[in-house]
Amino acid sequence: MNAESFFSKNIKDALKNDPPGSWMPTLPEQCIRLSSGFPAPSLVPVDQLKDAVASLLDEEGDLPLHYIGSPKVEKLTGQIQDMIKGHDIHVAEDELLITSGACQAIDLIARVLIDENTVVAIESPTYMEALEIFQNYTDQFISIPIDEHGLQTSVLEEVLEDRKNKGLPFPRLLYTIPTFQNPTGTTMTTERRKRVLRLASEYDFLVLEDDAYRELYFDQPSVPLKAMDREDRVLYVGSLSKVVATGMRIGWVAAAPEFIKALDWFKKDLGHPFGQATMATFLEKTEMAKRLNTLRDTYETKCEALISALEQYLPKQVSWYVPGGGYFVWVHIAGVDTTDMLTEALSKGVSYVPGEYFFLHSHEGKEYLRLSFSYANPKEIDEGAQKLGEVIKEVLKK
Ligand SMILES: Cc1ncc(COP(=O)(O)O)c(C=O)c1O
Repeated sequence: MNAESFFSKNIKDALKNDPPGSWMPTLPEQCIRLSSGFPAPSLVPVDQLKDAVASLLDEEGDLPLHYIGSPKVEKLTGQIQDMIKGHDIHVAEDELLITSGACQAIDLIARVLIDENTVVAIESPTYMEALEIFQNYTDQFISIPIDEHGLQTSVLEEVLEDRKNKGLPFPRLLYTIPTFQNPTGTTMTTERRKRVLRLASEYDFLVLEDDAYRELYFDQPSVPLKAMDREDRVLYVGSLSKVVATGMRIGWVAAAPEFIKALDWFKKDLGHPFGQATMATFLEKTEMAKRLNTLRDTYETKCEALISALEQYLPKQVSWYVPGGGYFVWVHIAGVDTTDMLTEALSKGVSYVPGEYFFLHSHEGKEYLRLSFSYANPKEIDEGAQKLGEVIKEVLKK
């Protein structure tokens, strides 16, 4: 029997892509992990989550352990509504869907909006998991380059005009991470945000705003596209992964009720009452404003450690964007294949993610790499950057 012969066409097509997670290098022991876009282990609130579980079960007994019935699950909706109200996003209950992280939100949106021939516009480079998700549904992409001010909206406009002149279909959806983008760390300017919304209206497409890093600003918070959206074109995706714990799997979509209804219709995991009720209890007991300030200060210190180490150890021809928040620094090394260089870097004891994995056309990313300052501590960051500098110098000598 040939199992694959039974797969749907959609799945057979998607299986031609690289397998999920193939970008993740296998790390040798003791390797300094500048590849890991994970929260710092010391910032994961283990004790507070332990308390939250104990107090939830004391208070509610078996309720959060059933399919439905925990009052705390209801509470989480209100807590998320309040949280995003702080970003000037005002949504009613039927405009919000809690998901298993931002990833499930993106997957559901793709499922509901994308047919085999649907055109999706993406940033280039973009978050590789999202790219993997979209590639499960379509192979029709428009990729729009990023510069230090985020998505190049002038290019987007040119591409849309060109498609209009040629009678080609417009995208149905633009996927963007306007704030502290993964992998570039860049933030879209307000002017460009307005232009995205104007283009969405003019060319009649939707915008998936992935705002996973919003809270992690070092200086000023930016205004989400969703807060400027007057036509309900933005499907706003958020997450508590980066500010509480990735393993809790709590994210959401805020969008017009029609979208939420459709997304909920196809969300067949029956929710995660225990995780959601635990998160609600954690949020009740935690002064989030204080926690967020601690996270911002810690990540800013780590980011500064990385930037100053890059300045100190990397050769002059290497360049990077300095982020205003988030987890990442995007590095350009002219003339170097970063995928080939990884073996050398790992053997020296430092990891990064080669740029190729963040592009639809992998060759476009060959001279780039993504560093993350979120996971390693400042001492490791310094040591890791020094090792990276040595590897780059050796490769450039060849
Ligand atoms: C841009 C972006 N969106 C979404 C996610 C995933 O978030 P979650 O853990 O909520 O699924 C990540 C995680 O790295 C990310 O970088």
